[in-house]
Amino acid sequence: MPVISKQAIAQVSWGQLALLEPEDGPILQALCENCTDYFELITGLPTAPSEAQSLFVALPEGKDYDDKVIVGLFDHQQRMIGVLDAIRGYPSPTTWYLGLLLFEPSQRQRGMGREAYLAFERWAAEAGAHRMRLGAVTQNPRGIRFWQQLGFTEVLKRRIKQGVLESECLVMEREIISP
Ligand SMILES: CC(C)(COP(=O)(O)OP(=O)(O)OC[C@H]1O[C@@H](n2cnc3c(N)ncnc32)[C@H](O)[C@@H]1OP(=O)(O)O)[C@@H](O)C(=O)NCCC(=O)NCCS
Repeated sequence: MPVISKQAIAQVSWGQLALLEPEDGPILQALCENCTDYFELITGLPTAPSEAQSLFVALPEGKDYDDKVIVGLFDHQQRMIGVLDAIRGYPSPTTWYLGLLLFEPSQRQRGMGREAYLAFERWAAEAGAHRMRLGAVTQNPRGIRFWQQLGFTEVLKRRIKQGVLESECLVMEREIISP
């Protein structure tokens, strides 16, 4: 899938971050299916056939599609190896809410997540973000440690139901220090 026509938002040492459009649904769905381990961990179910579509349409109350950012993480061969999604200006005008950061299993634990997040954060800061918020479920301790290592701290806990699992979710935030 050539990435040339997509809007790149940041370059990283292993590739680039580029905005996805609804027509990218099939490559996003294929990625989610490669990451069924993650969906099983957080929902208790394998990747849903409509996962990509849900990622494109899921919005918190009061926000609209213009507030949603879905970013493909592409390697130098222009293969999509991960995805990130966020809501601009939620829950406050200068806070962005990160819904997902997900790499296919073979690409994890190599420092790419940290680089992707920091590149995204710089782009968000230029677009007016002062804080980044996210939720991480406690059955994903590696995920929680990843965010803590990036300086995220817990602001509240809540119980959420995803798929067939009820989980404890740590809502975490990090202040964005612009250079
Ligand atoms: C969570 C996730 C996005 C992090 O991305 P990542 O690229 O794996 O993360 P990084 O490699 O930057 O850092 C993760 C770990 O690898 C280590 N690491 C970084 N570079 C490394 C390298 N070159 N060699 C070995 N280990 C390395 C980091 O120190 C960190 O250590 P830890 O295991 O003690 O936490 C990724 O693992 C993923 O997609 N997981 C599944 C989905 C998920 O859980 N998302 C988060 C939801 S809250």
